[in-house]
Amino acid sequence: MEFMNRKPIIAGNWKLNKTIKEAIELVTLLKRLIQDTQSVDVVVCPVYTALSDVSEVLIESEIKLGAQDLYWEEKGAFTGEVSGSLLKDAGASYVIIGHSERRQFFHETHETVNKKTKAALKAGLIPIVCVGELLKEREAGQTFEVIQRQLEGAFVNFSKEEIQALVLAYEPVWAIGTGKVATPQQAQEVHAFIRKEIAKMFGAETATSLRIQYGGSVKADNIADLMREADIDGALVGGASLDANGFADIVRNAVSVTVK
Ligand code: 13P
Repeated sequence: MEFMNRKPIIAGNWKLNKTIKEAIELVTLLKRLIQDTQSVDVVVCPVYTALSDVSEVLIESEIKLGAQDLYWEEKGAFTGEVSGSLLKDAGASYVIIGHSERRQFFHETHETVNKKTKAALKAGLIPIVCVGELLKEREAGQTFEVIQRQLEGAFVNFSKEEIQALVLAYEPVWAIGTGKVATPQQAQEVHAFIRKEIAKMFGAETATSLRIQYGGSVKADNIADLMREADIDGALVGGASLDANGFADIVRNAVSVTVK
């Protein structure tokens, strides 16, 4: 499979799961199961409280650490928030931004996604910026306009270089945690649309180099078909990333698509 020099990326979003002890157990096993995966970037995103301990386990491992959110201010009177530099300090190199759960339950807006993405880049983190439509938006035929608004909102005042330093994740909300994975064709259609929109906003070269993950009920048995599509460069995995064997199988099957 030709990925236009885009290295696929499989990231596990653990959401609000796992104690520190459980997190350490999971990555300790993952480290053993996932070896020789140079053709794919692998990232795990635990809760804040487990970041530092997981980072210790991942020393000398190819597996990278990510957080699930950040705040755009560096420091100060912002009770309960965590900044990009503190995530770096805890060992993270990636951060998920604008996940649909943050947008739905925590009132994230285009503007907060924009500010957080800027702040993440400034801190030297790789943002994984999430977009995706609700079921009712898909059923109303609004998928493309919703995605377009999310991209335009997220990337106000962005440069080509900034876009080149991040990862996008297309997560149709109706496919998250529902077991209802988008078909490879449904996902590809939106990924191609995203790439076209990014090309319009930031030029063809930036769009071609941008990695776009798919997220929503990804499992070991559907990852390969998704990744065979031209514009799908990996996955953001929720539920199936909580089990070391299941996540390792996903990574293995992703690798099998890249080495043809
Ligand atoms: P599931 O894989 O559990 O559907 O979750 C997807 C997701 O939200 C990843 O960020």
